[in-house]
Amino acid sequence: MAKKNTNDTMDRLVSLCKRRGYVFQSSELYGGLNSCWDYGPLGAELKRNIKTFWWDAMTARRDDVEGLDAAILMHPDVWKTSGHVDEFTDPMVDCKTCKSRFRAEDLEGRDKCPTCGNATLTEPRQFNLMFKTFMGPVEDATAAVYLRPETAQGIYVNFLNVKNSSRQKVPFGIAQIGKAFRNEITPGNFIFRTREFEQMEMQYFIPPNEDEKWLEYWREQRWNWYLELGIRKEKLRWHEHAKDELAHYAKAAYDVEYEFPFGWKELEGVHNRTDFDLTRHQEATGKDLKYFDERFPEKFIPYIIETSAGCDRTLLTVLIDAYVEDKSRGDKSTVLKLSPKIAPLKAAVFPLVKKDGMPEIAEKVYHDLKKKYKVFYDAGGSVGRRYARMDEAGTPYCITIDGQTKEDDTVTVRDRDSMEQTRHKIAELSDFLAERIG
Ligand code: GAP
Repeated sequence: MAKKNTNDTMDRLVSLCKRRGYVFQSSELYGGLNSCWDYGPLGAELKRNIKTFWWDAMTARRDDVEGLDAAILMHPDVWKTSGHVDEFTDPMVDCKTCKSRFRAEDLEGRDKCPTCGNATLTEPRQFNLMFKTFMGPVEDATAAVYLRPETAQGIYVNFLNVKNSSRQKVPFGIAQIGKAFRNEITPGNFIFRTREFEQMEMQYFIPPNEDEKWLEYWREQRWNWYLELGIRKEKLRWHEHAKDELAHYAKAAYDVEYEFPFGWKELEGVHNRTDFDLTRHQEATGKDLKYFDERFPEKFIPYIIETSAGCDRTLLTVLIDAYVEDKSRGDKSTVLKLSPKIAPLKAAVFPLVKKDGMPEIAEKVYHDLKKKYKVFYDAGGSVGRRYARMDEAGTPYCITIDGQTKEDDTVTVRDRDSMEQTRHKIAELSDFLAERIG
């Protein structure tokens, strides 16, 4: 029963995403491509708002973090040095009968295939998750390159470039948002685990003996970021990695987890990567990646505290957390209670009826607000239906031009969550939105 409810919630969210233009199946016209998704008009806007919210918090408003936008394709030796060629693997099990493929950890000691029930599972074998392609016209081993499986390495190999050009001193960080690719054995749960996704990563370079202090600092920053994004606190928790869970580069790792309809799952990792990455790159290239300034007795390789969040996973979290079925609103009862800070549409503007000069005023209000905010104009159907459409799209405010507007230049503003309507002067609408959107 619990499983059915889980699936129901996800199914309803997936269909809302399609109906309202948040997320579409990739290549749908051709029958779709497994685990690949396209963001529609509202999804693209929401994703952009989440990235801006992260970028502002993690670099634009800080003096100690610089931004970077490194290439997806990197020198193939980077991935040998980082350990990804040898160690970025998942143990995989095949069923010889039905050819299904599983991550060994998902089978938890079962000896029969969950798909066909036959005891014809292979022994686990290591499967490297990196996508390989070829650079240039010749498809041989010397032309092989990888699509990056994390954005972090682009930051490490630019450590000197950023330090020297920005004149930052430790502790300082480098932040980056970009696509990453993993040939996941079992992608799934909509946009939760996909083969192409976007990461929002920040690497903070510190003196080695300050690692515990900065790990705690960034854990707190990242926790608060999710609260500011409007995620319910009771749906979030920390998971500390046990020794046998730690990635090959980490000394300590904590995941921010969210309670999805399919269970508690990782949203973001905060890792103490020690001097692992810079030491390996220094050894492989012979370039001196040590740090020195007059405050320290000798040169050292900085330790790194990493915060690594998934943009698509955050977007899924935001949608699930905001998704409410409110029967008190009648048949059309779905509301996306997105924080106004990240909602794709900040407001909708309606003329109450298509006559008596109301559309002309409504259009002017719409065009004026549009200069600053993403707003939507809708004159179609009853006001109730228009409210319902905007509730489902997650639009926090609906502005209606009615008979009184011509007399005193006021409009009603209806709040999506409380459904309360208040009257405001047209001239004050921009400030009204600014106060709430931040
Ligand atoms: N640089 C460290 C690193 O990449 P990770 O825990 O493998 O760490 C960080 O990934 C975050 O990237 C995850 O917490 C998740 O949000 C996101 N992520 C990882 N694999 C993903 C996938 N297949 N689909 C969607 N998001 C993914």
